Amino acid sequence: MTIRPFQLSDLGALYDICLRTGNSGKDARELYTDKEILGHFFAAPYVAFEPELCFILDNHTRPLGYILGTSDSRKYRQWTEQYWFPLLRQRYARESEDFTPKDRYLRELILRGYVLREELRDYPAHLHIDILPEGQGRGMGRKLMEAFMTALRKKNIPALHLEVGLSNSGAIAFYRRMGFSTIAEYQKSLALGIKL
Ligand SMILES: CC(C)(COP(=O)(O)OP(=O)(O)OC[C@H]1O[C@@H](n2cnc3c(N)ncnc32)[C@H](O)[C@@H]1OP(=O)(O)O)[C@@H](O)C(=O)NCCC(=O)NCCS
Repeated sequence: MTIRPFQLSDLGALYDICLRTGNSGKDARELYTDKEILGHFFAAPYVAFEPELCFILDNHTRPLGYILGTSDSRKYRQWTEQYWFPLLRQRYARESEDFTPKDRYLRELILRGYVLREELRDYPAHLHIDILPEGQGRGMGRKLMEAFMTALRKKNIPALHLEVGLSNSGAIAFYRRMGFSTIAEYQKSLALGIKL
C-alpha cells in the first residue's frame, strides 16, 4: 500500500469509501437510499476546493482510503456557499419519498451548509479521514495524517481540528494517539484539535 496525491479519477472512489465508512466508521450503505449524499457533503467539495490537501491510500488496484480537508475553514465556507451548495440545494429542494432518516439528515446539512464554529476559530484547518476495513490497523491512518499535516505546515497553517461522533470510539482513540485533544464537547460529537 502506498500514499499518493489525489487525482481526479479517484473521485468515484472517494464517494464510495465515504459511504462504506459513514456509519460511525462502519458501512452505511444500508442506511442511505441516496448513495451520493454523504460524499456530497463530507468528501467531494474538499477536493474541488483544495485538491492538494487530499491524499489517497492505494493498494495498486484501487483506493482503500483517503484524508482530505481544508487549510482555511472560513474560506471553505465562502467557497462552498458560492460554488458547491447552490446547485445541490436545487436538487434537494424537495425531499424524496424514499429517503431514509439518514438521507433526510444529510439533506438538512446540505441545505444548512458548512457551519463555522466560534470555539474552533484558532484551529483554521479541518479534515476527514476514512479507510476501508482491509486498510485499517496497519499504520496507514498515521501515514495519511502525517502527509496531511506536512502539507498544512508548508502552508504555515497554525492548527487543525476535526469533529468525531461520540459513538466512534475507535476513531477517537486514533486521534488521541495522533496528539489531538478535546476543544469542545457537543451532544453527539467531540471537536478535537492539534497545534501544528
Ligand atoms: C480511524 C482510522 C482513520 C484509523 O486509521 P488506521 O490506519 O486504522 O490507524 P493506524 O493503524 O494508523 O493507527 C495509528 C495509531 O492509532 C491507534 N489506533 C488506531 N485505531 C485504534 C482503535 N480502534 N483503538 C485504539 N487505538 C487505535 C493505533 O494503535 C496506532 O497507535 P501506534 O501508532 O502508537 O501503534 C481508520 O480506522 C478508519 O478509517 N476507520 C473508519 C472510518 C472512520 O471512523 N473515520 C473517522 C471518522 S471521524
